[in-house]
Amino acid sequence: MVIKTAEFVKSSGKWQECPDPNIPEYAFIGRSNVGKSSLINAMMNHKDLAKTSQTPGKTQLINHFLVNENWYLTDLPGYGYAKVSKVQRKDFEKLITNYILNRRNLVNLFVLVDIRHNPQKIDLEFIQWCGESGIPFSIVFTKSDKLKRGAIVKNVEDYKAELHKTWEDLPELYITSAEKKEGGDKILDFIQKTNDFLTNNNISFDE
Ligand code: GTP
Ligand code: MG
Repeated sequence: MVIKTAEFVKSSGKWQECPDPNIPEYAFIGRSNVGKSSLINAMMNHKDLAKTSQTPGKTQLINHFLVNENWYLTDLPGYGYAKVSKVQRKDFEKLITNYILNRRNLVNLFVLVDIRHNPQKIDLEFIQWCGESGIPFSIVFTKSDKLKRGAIVKNVEDYKAELHKTWEDLPELYITSAEKKEGGDKILDFIQKTNDFLTNNNISFDE
């Protein structure tokens, strides 16, 4: 997919405040600091469309970006950020789960995980919740520039083995580096194909 335009639309603190759900939407989610905002910028060929930070917990609102004037790319707040109060964390969780369960134009969720780590409990629990809730999702490994080829292959295989403990069919997996601008094109190809499918089958989100 060629990115002709990518513009910030708004930040929302509630799913009800998000832009009208009348065009296909794809959202990025994952632990705080996993690289959601960086990957969005890399895919959009834009240095600071989505705000990035070395301090975890930077994105605390739902951020909508309008791409090519016909679909939304959404940057969700990171989950599992330790340095906030329990109440604040519960509020984030509610914001995220309400958004995911209620956003009728959400076509696919991309769950980002850092390729350097073993499967983490918090990510596995979130993936489990998506599966049980019937949410269509894919897994995106981030920061692949930080590992050598062999370690990338091993960690991806380990992740698959972990998922196979629960699921027979695995979701799509993507290996990306925002730093090297790699892998994002595969995600954009998937989005293009999906948007074409929706158009060709007259599936729209207008009420
Ligand atoms: P929150 O908004 O806090 O949830 O974080 P986020 O998931 O949006 O992460 P963000 O994109 O802000 O990146 C966090 C840190 O990881 C920053 O210091 C980035 O420069 C770094 N980073 C992100 N992606 C990559 C990558 O592909 N490679 C490398 N080496 N560093 C990355
Ligand atoms: Mg962010």
